[in-house]
Amino acid sequence: MSKLRVFRAAILHLLDDPKQSLTSDIAAVQYFSDGLLLVRDGLVEKVGHTPDLLSSLPVDCEIIHFPEHLIIPGLIDTHIHYPQTDMIAAFGERLLEWLEIYTFPTESQFGDETHAAEVAAFFLDELLRQGTTTALVFGTVHPASVNAFFKAAQARRLRMIAGKVMMDRNCPAYLQDTPDSAYADSKALIDQWHGKDRLLYAVTPRFAPTSSDAQLAKAGQLLHEYPDVYLHTHVAENQDEVAWVAELFPKSRSYLDVYHQHQLLKPRSVLAHSIYLDQADRDCMAQTGAAAAFCPCSNLFIGSGLFNLKAMQDSGVRVGLGSDVGGGDSFSLLQATNNAYKVLQLQNQKLSAWQALYLATLGGARALYLDDKLGNFLPNKEADFVVLNGKGTPLLERRLAKAQSLHEKLFALLMLADDRSISATYILGEEAYCNPNT
Ligand code: GUN
Ligand code: ZN
Repeated sequence: MSKLRVFRAAILHLLDDPKQSLTSDIAAVQYFSDGLLLVRDGLVEKVGHTPDLLSSLPVDCEIIHFPEHLIIPGLIDTHIHYPQTDMIAAFGERLLEWLEIYTFPTESQFGDETHAAEVAAFFLDELLRQGTTTALVFGTVHPASVNAFFKAAQARRLRMIAGKVMMDRNCPAYLQDTPDSAYADSKALIDQWHGKDRLLYAVTPRFAPTSSDAQLAKAGQLLHEYPDVYLHTHVAENQDEVAWVAELFPKSRSYLDVYHQHQLLKPRSVLAHSIYLDQADRDCMAQTGAAAAFCPCSNLFIGSGLFNLKAMQDSGVRVGLGSDVGGGDSFSLLQATNNAYKVLQLQNQKLSAWQALYLATLGGARALYLDDKLGNFLPNKEADFVVLNGKGTPLLERRLAKAQSLHEKLFALLMLADDRSISATYILGEEAYCNPNT
């Protein structure tokens, strides 16, 4: 017997990239002030106006009603490190020192699968509490870190992408692998996890400075052997890092070109940060189908720089939003949209509420090439969604009461809301988190 679940609330999703338009009637935005979301066996069957759909429902159909709430698609985090959960908000350093002082010692603990499992469980529950339903996730160099993560994600029925870090130089000996061990360990993890339930694997060289040419070649070999796995790494985040890469790889035209020369850029390659790029780099990303993860909380917190969204979008590069915890200081993609707005203000760019919601949902799904499964409520997509409460804080409630247009309301919500406004998170149409305070 197939199972129908019906949800009633205001419903908002995007059918396409809203581009830079601000007008609320643009074709990309679909809004139902009183909507129904029909979910059958975990997949979206239909979304529409309640008066249009009510009569078609079976007479005994139970409707799960969230009066005065807004349902949006589950949020998609295109770059995050689960092992850095316990070192979030580390004081006073920029990228290269931050890695040495805080990150590497913290990651050294993840050879212990019991420790890894405890952190993974907290991490995934925290994502759900914040409305994030899918993420592209760094493990550590230890295969145990990835096994623990995938087991925890599988138990929660989540669509998650993760991989074991590859790093064979310029890091402490206790965290180093080799080209051959990285290849063999990654291959075994791909065979065990890629495509199992909703889980997918990402080949994960940490960044160019910590991988030799030989290791980057092994990463390329894995992508060649497994064409549908992901490539997940960092690029051009910090100016000292960029200068270091120029010294380490004198034959490459640019930092991005190091990856291009090793054939690591393709659809399903995701490059976190992508700040210090030139036009040739952006064209290369667009042509290869590689995507950028825009991580504003991290770029501000560890003082890295300002992501140029307009230049990326004008060049045709796919862009998603990332929290980059623990460089980022929040798990909340609502906080990420707030910081994205400010990063773009500093560059005289305006991030509309439509664009912000797009980056956190359908844009992220497109960056991950998962838009056939996620990102909005078109039929047959996986029914992961968030129920938002506009009364999550007294200030938000007050501000929304004054807002006139849908754009003004959504903008205030995306700027002011946080976990207090997440009433519930649903995975495949089943409740996975319910806020005890609402
Ligand atoms: N570059 C290489 N490793 C890291 C990391 O763990 N976090 C961030 N933000 N950048 C990196
Ligand atoms: Zn990162």
